[in-house]
Amino acid sequence: MEKSLANPEIKARVEALLLQMNLDQKIGQMTQTERMSCTPEDVKNYHLGSVLSGGGSCPGDNRPDDWVRMNDAYWAASMEQSDEHLAIPIIYGVDAIHGNNNVLGATVFPHNIGLGAANDPELLQRIAQATAREILATGVEWTFAPTLAVARDKRWGRTYESYSEENTIVGSYAEKFVNGLQSDSHDDCVVACVKHWVGDGGTTHGIDQGDTALSFDELKRTHIEPYYAAIDAGVMTIMASFNSWNGDKCHGHRYLISDLLKDEMGFQGFVISDWDGIDYLSEDYFDAVGKGVNAGIDMFMVSEEWQPFLRHLKRHVQDGTVPMSRIDDAVRRILTVKFACGLFERPRPVERPWSNHECFGGSEHRDIAREAVRKSLVLLKNDSDLLPLNKQANILVAGKNAHNRGHQCGGFTVAWQGALDNETIEGGTSIWEGIHQQSPSATLSEDGRDADPEKHDVAIVVIGELPYAEGMGDIRDGNDVIVEAGSQIKGLMKVLEPYGHTLELAQLHPEDLATIQRIASKGIPVVTVLVSGRPLVVNRELDDSTSFVAAWLPGSEGQGVADVLFGDYDFQGRLSFSWPEKVSADAGIDDELFPYGYGLNYQ
Ligand code: GLC
Repeated sequence: MEKSLANPEIKARVEALLLQMNLDQKIGQMTQTERMSCTPEDVKNYHLGSVLSGGGSCPGDNRPDDWVRMNDAYWAASMEQSDEHLAIPIIYGVDAIHGNNNVLGATVFPHNIGLGAANDPELLQRIAQATAREILATGVEWTFAPTLAVARDKRWGRTYESYSEENTIVGSYAEKFVNGLQSDSHDDCVVACVKHWVGDGGTTHGIDQGDTALSFDELKRTHIEPYYAAIDAGVMTIMASFNSWNGDKCHGHRYLISDLLKDEMGFQGFVISDWDGIDYLSEDYFDAVGKGVNAGIDMFMVSEEWQPFLRHLKRHVQDGTVPMSRIDDAVRRILTVKFACGLFERPRPVERPWSNHECFGGSEHRDIAREAVRKSLVLLKNDSDLLPLNKQANILVAGKNAHNRGHQCGGFTVAWQGALDNETIEGGTSIWEGIHQQSPSATLSEDGRDADPEKHDVAIVVIGELPYAEGMGDIRDGNDVIVEAGSQIKGLMKVLEPYGHTLELAQLHPEDLATIQRIASKGIPVVTVLVSGRPLVVNRELDDSTSFVAAWLPGSEGQGVADVLFGDYDFQGRLSFSWPEKVSADAGIDDELFPYGYGLNYQ
């Protein structure tokens, strides 16, 4: 795909189109807003370059056809040539980060932390291709994925969006996922967006949007490295990160965005801001706009106030505080991507071959997701070789995450913060449903109170976290690391209510240990399955379990867990994050109970 971005024919088309554009049309192309803040008329009247859905922002009944028709209206408006408006197709962006996860009935793949444990780059390309097809089935052309975060502190609420605490797996996946999304064939191509540039997983104390205090060499070695593979693979867009680097916000960092990423690393696509990301550059929005544009951001995700953005940027150009050359560079990059992914050649969304395609949520994709679940599971303990289980055994299944497809999918699923029930996740199987399909005599209990050694040979207890996303998943221990909203890390930051104050599961969710102990105290051996977005301190749960499996956030195909518990498949997952032994001031990499790469199997 790199060849298309540098393709001379595309360059010629871009230059020819650029020459026709006036300042309003150029600034419009640099503007992306949320679907709830703009109409198709606005797209035409203000020449908007892109529209997005924030997490959970879904049209109509949230079925593929609702999405196709929504984008078709925006597309048609953007292509209405007139004296005032040039026909330049909008590009619609979504967070399809583990399948086309906003849409009801989509195949929901395991979140990245589980895919990192699978350590299977070929599988990642198949997941990306299936995801691309389910995105195209909804008439959408762009996803803000894959995340290339290298999460170094497990207290970060976005740890599960990271493949690994080491950049080797992240780098090996970057190329595969970008290639799986950005097919060379125009009709099949979904534009990828690697994120967040740069150092999002390295903030002090794991505070979301916090400060990454590292030397350049450390930043490069850990967090920049995976982007080389993505750029080599021809990734077309890169998203700037909310965090700061040594106190300077990435969204305003000219060196990181222009000198390093564009000039030195040769990125030829376009850089998009994160959600209102430039707002935190200054308390004066006019000033913030100038800082963001001059730093080298090309397209601006402005969730609501896009009209002030247009006005401020136009004034900057007229005042000369943003040079026209910067505007032209941004628009060239945006047009290059739109030509390279075949956007100008595609028919309108309702007429595209993949729109409303039956592959959406179909068995072929669900089988890939089920395979990914199997390969993501990590066996941390298996005393007396309790696993694999006999399908004819009398099995008691318990725990709050045993029969809840919402919980097992985690954040960014239908809603931004995820779902808390089965009904919202259409299709797929809960972990319980998968077990029951293979062992019909199994029985389900919420909390194990009905455990009876006369009736039950073994128990499977599924525990862990509830869904969360971004800062609402942070663990902030004590007040020393709570950064008040609006505090000056050389720019404002948004602080959301954290998930909890400790990585110790017995304190976060005491009901889990209670369920395990309630059953184990009756002499019934317990297989514990942990559904979580990160490693947690689980010493007490481990002690009272005979076997213990890390299942991460498996997504819609929970039956993949049963496939391995019953021995139809062996464990192959290996920890892509070290596992903490204790709660420490710095939940970094040192105090490990299980090392990076650890995992047992049946052999
Ligand atoms: C969010 C996230 C980013 C996402 C964007 C659009 O705040 O930081 O990963 O792509 O907004 O939803």
